[in-house]
Amino acid sequence: MKSLELDLSGIRSLVSDQELQAWQTKSDAYVAQLHAGTGQGSDFLGWIDLPATITDQDFTAIEAAARSLQERCDYVVSIGIGGSYLGARAVIEALTPTFAAYRKEHSAPQVIFAGHNIGEDYLSELVDFLSDKRFGIINISKSGTTTEPAIAFRILKGLLEQQVGREGARERIIAVTDRARGALRTLADKEGYQTFVIPDDIGGRFSVLTPVGLLPIAVAGFDIRELVRGAREMKAQVDEGVPFAENLSALYAAARNSLYQHGKKIEILGNFHPKLHYIGEWWKQLYGESEGKEHKGIFNAAVDFTADLHSMGQWIQEGERTIFETIISIATPDRELRIASDADNLDGLNYLAGKRVDEVNKMAELGTRMAHVDGGVPNIRITLPQLNAYYIGQLFYFFEKAVGISGYMLGVNPFNQPGVEAYKKNMFALLEKPGFEEATQAIKSRL
Ligand code: PA5
Repeated sequence: MKSLELDLSGIRSLVSDQELQAWQTKSDAYVAQLHAGTGQGSDFLGWIDLPATITDQDFTAIEAAARSLQERCDYVVSIGIGGSYLGARAVIEALTPTFAAYRKEHSAPQVIFAGHNIGEDYLSELVDFLSDKRFGIINISKSGTTTEPAIAFRILKGLLEQQVGREGARERIIAVTDRARGALRTLADKEGYQTFVIPDDIGGRFSVLTPVGLLPIAVAGFDIRELVRGAREMKAQVDEGVPFAENLSALYAAARNSLYQHGKKIEILGNFHPKLHYIGEWWKQLYGESEGKEHKGIFNAAVDFTADLHSMGQWIQEGERTIFETIISIATPDRELRIASDADNLDGLNYLAGKRVDEVNKMAELGTRMAHVDGGVPNIRITLPQLNAYYIGQLFYFFEKAVGISGYMLGVNPFNQPGVEAYKKNMFALLEKPGFEEATQAIKSRL
């Protein structure tokens, strides 16, 4: 079976082989700490063994719940934010046919996302759109107390109950949340919703292979068993005991940290395939939230090429030399489309006649890589043989394992996110949430 490949040749002008190799001892130690649970954040390491521990029963339960929503709904709103949102969206956007043919080619309900913003227009337009549609809701929140999804759920639950009554809504709402704690657990138990549990030891951004990601992905009609199979295969490749020189996650972590030590403080994740946009969003959260701590950490951005070569391309090529890039490449596209010959050749494109569009894309990719390396932007390349659930599963696990190692190399706890509480505290104080009286007084004195 083919596998994801990692190519570090594009960092060699800055990071020597010896420099990379020098990480070996530390890397082995950090991998051992991750597996033994002796490093920082050891309460949140459930993702390490997760792919291997999902049972046939687990899959069957998720698939049955997905079928029940599929039978009743043309649209399913997946409500969640951050780790309770991005993994499912990344897979669904990557695998769904892009254009209007969606409904014809792909018979599953359309999964719509909400609860990842507090946009009044967004929510109001969604309510209008759904008001005459057959829809259901997957409400996802590990803490069960996050404001954005809670607002979206209150509004959409109201709409659904208006449409199909409380009993009908109960058949169309599934909650994914903590086993015992949080407002969503209380509400789900009281209303009698079907629930799936997010394990205590798996943080939001590592939860894509729990029901958080698997349920919406299954509802959208994609093969969650393949996704997990890919993650399992990758787990074996980056497990404890795999030599550093062969461990793709360890090598990626070492490369990033070497580059960081050379002053490369920004990493852009680029793709040449528009369907990978949300993989970039998922990755940004995984790396940004895991590493940006104690005034340290690589800043993560994501770009969609070639579109962004016509905007950010200038900065990347000639701006401050604090950047490196990681490109996700797809070896073989699903479809084949060739450029036709034209008798008049007014657009001057006949030199491409007969070529596949992907051949042009690949040369754009190679040309970009060479230009960026020449311009002082080291390049890491990750190649997926194809864009399918199996290889996305590999990619997810590869990145998860790498961020655990990389965070330890950086000297931070990659499994917490204390910084995300600051805005919430201010927002609650400004909104005069009960329990925040002191903070309200303090913040109002600053206005
Ligand atoms: O990775 C994380 O922990 C966060 O991004 C959370 O996923 C996000 O804040 C949503 O939290 P919750 O699932 O508790 O609503």
